[in-house]
Amino acid sequence: MNISPLASSPPGTSPQPAQPGTVTPSPVLSARGLLMTYGTGGTTTRALDGVDLDLDRADSLAVMGPSGCGKTTLLHILAGILTPTTGTVLHEGTDLARLGDRRRTRLRRSDFGFVFQDGQLLPELTALENVILPRMLGGTSRRAATAEAASWLDRLGLSGMHDRRPTQLSGGQAQRVAIARALAGRPSVVFADEPTGALDQATGQAVLQILVDSCRDTGAALVMVTHDGTVAAACRRTVTMQDGRIAQEFVRPVAETGSTGAER
Ligand SMILES: Nc1ncnc2c1ncn2[C@@H]1O[C@H](COP(=O)(O)OP(=O)(O)OP(=O)(O)O)[C@@H](O)[C@H]1O
Ligand SMILES: [Mg+2]
Repeated sequence: MNISPLASSPPGTSPQPAQPGTVTPSPVLSARGLLMTYGTGGTTTRALDGVDLDLDRADSLAVMGPSGCGKTTLLHILAGILTPTTGTVLHEGTDLARLGDRRRTRLRRSDFGFVFQDGQLLPELTALENVILPRMLGGTSRRAATAEAASWLDRLGLSGMHDRRPTQLSGGQAQRVAIARALAGRPSVVFADEPTGALDQATGQAVLQILVDSCRDTGAALVMVTHDGTVAAACRRTVTMQDGRIAQEFVRPVAETGSTGAER
């Protein structure tokens, strides 16, 4: 595999200012100087220790590294679920920490999609209802949300399963419902934490390909935490974390990620 190393920018460096007369695409997410300390007093854990990261539209980023190195913490901070101890996250230029809780929640619903290891579908709702619920909470009409959800479920190979509850679905099918739910709102960024970790390898690979292709087709950026190098290889970039820092970054040639590159 032809992987070329790319030095990540040193902590604290800022993006280069745009040259007059040039169009510089701004990243959809931009994090600078992230530190995160859990706990107070004598029992504190430094989970992030100076992370800078930019994510472009429609790009895909795998976050790897040993257990406890800060991957989930980073994902949650980038998604505005957690606020860092210090440092900033800009989404399309807006500082997440400066939004109030309500506006941040609204932003998460309208602009971010989430896929977690176990899907986190609501057990009492059908597949279709699981997909439409966040859309309706975001203000979309039931009729529009239903049409959108049905089309996503069909597209992900779940036609005929719209009315099944999560317990009546296989792990791979449930993860496809979670992907439909994440993408139905046309998010600008999809966050995935070990999205295939609970699946066998073949099912996991199929679900992963659906996730990566769906993000690429809709122009969503993807940030995916994984322990699995094969899974990471579906993403254009991989960062490896160590003790709360980005220790390494790789960028893959587009051809190796199975992308046509058409939307990038
Ligand atoms: N709510 C919390 N309170 C205290 N410490 C925490 C909390 N969440 C995470 N930590 C600690 O922060 C560090 C980073 O945790 P994090 O969950 O980000 O790691 P991770 O890389 O996602 O690990 P894994 O691969 O096991 O999921 C760990 O030392 C963990 O114990
Ligand atoms: Mg984790």
